[in-house]
Amino acid sequence: MKKVQIKNFASYTPELTVSNDDLSQIMDTSDEWIKSRTGISNRKISLNENTSDLCLKVAQKLIQKNNINVNDIGLIIVATMSPDACTPSTSAIVQGKLNAKNAMAFDISAACSGFIYGLEIAQKMMRQSSFKYSIVIGGEVLSKEVDWTDRTCAVLFGDGAAGALLENDAQVESFYEADVKTFGELGDRLVAGQTDPIQAFPPKEFTKFHPFEMDGRAVYKFATSEVPQSMMRASETNQIDFDKIDYFVLHQANYKIIKSIAKKIKQPLDKFPMDMDKYGNTSAASIPLMLADLQENNKLHEGQLLMLAGFGGGLTIGSQIIKL
Ligand code: ACO
Repeated sequence: MKKVQIKNFASYTPELTVSNDDLSQIMDTSDEWIKSRTGISNRKISLNENTSDLCLKVAQKLIQKNNINVNDIGLIIVATMSPDACTPSTSAIVQGKLNAKNAMAFDISAACSGFIYGLEIAQKMMRQSSFKYSIVIGGEVLSKEVDWTDRTCAVLFGDGAAGALLENDAQVESFYEADVKTFGELGDRLVAGQTDPIQAFPPKEFTKFHPFEMDGRAVYKFATSEVPQSMMRASETNQIDFDKIDYFVLHQANYKIIKSIAKKIKQPLDKFPMDMDKYGNTSAASIPLMLADLQENNKLHEGQLLMLAGFGGGLTIGSQIIKL
């Protein structure tokens, strides 16, 4: 079978940093409350740049870094819960601006598990195709979906984008069997951007856009019980012991969730890199942002095994072991 390799990662975050103290100026919250419950101190907030702008920067960096011909890209996937529009897709905007004439482009909506879902779709499609490269990006501008008067959600989220370049017919196989699941029956625990159907015809008003709403405690319980089980299934299916994994790169929602998962799978916390301190929860961008940060800090080396694990809206989960 053809091998599919993850070549490397790239990221882009907006310039504006908003600290917990900045938030406490506009709502009834405090650095102490936010930091002690989540590990978040700062987040990046996008002004004037939409999701596709962030994702385009990531794609351009990946093309430059790997010195590839844009015509060799056959697939661009953007995982996002904050697209520029219902249509065109964010990935189509990126494809058009890159002038990647040979690329099929589409978005996927799996919230914070989106990057893992995207990798899974891309690597499986690549094996059946002859194109050389795919780009998979997780990108979010969640600041446009948050109700900035609702302190229960507003303090948690941030904006950013990051992604990976995948090479087809490569020397190294990066992918092991992933464990991906959806729990649609729990979908109402985390919702954003719902639009209501019209009530009468002709309609009396435009349909409303609903901001982010989350049952934080329910999501916390879901993540700390389902994610370790998913990671264990991925480990067993591929017969790779947790001890062999160099880093566990988890969705960066909350340091307490990560601590609890580390304890449940009996692995030292220093194998769980965290950056929610800088970026907050960036949903689909969170796992690739962490990967790009590790790469920039020379922590990633050829031959290492990483386990990626995400959870979020849907509700969705995914665990993926990759080899660098
Ligand atoms: N600042 C100050 N006080 C606050 C704030 C705030 N920003 N938000 C809520 N409070 C208050 C509440 O009103 C409540 O007050 P009360 O006791 O007087 O009613 C009190 O703090 C406790 O509120 P809880 O919601 O019970 O706080 P909890 O300890 O559960 O922490 C949190 C909330 C941090 C959201 C936690 O439940 C959590 O992290 N859950 C997981 C969320 C998550 O991971 N989501 C992302 C996954 S999916 C995705 O990323 C898209």
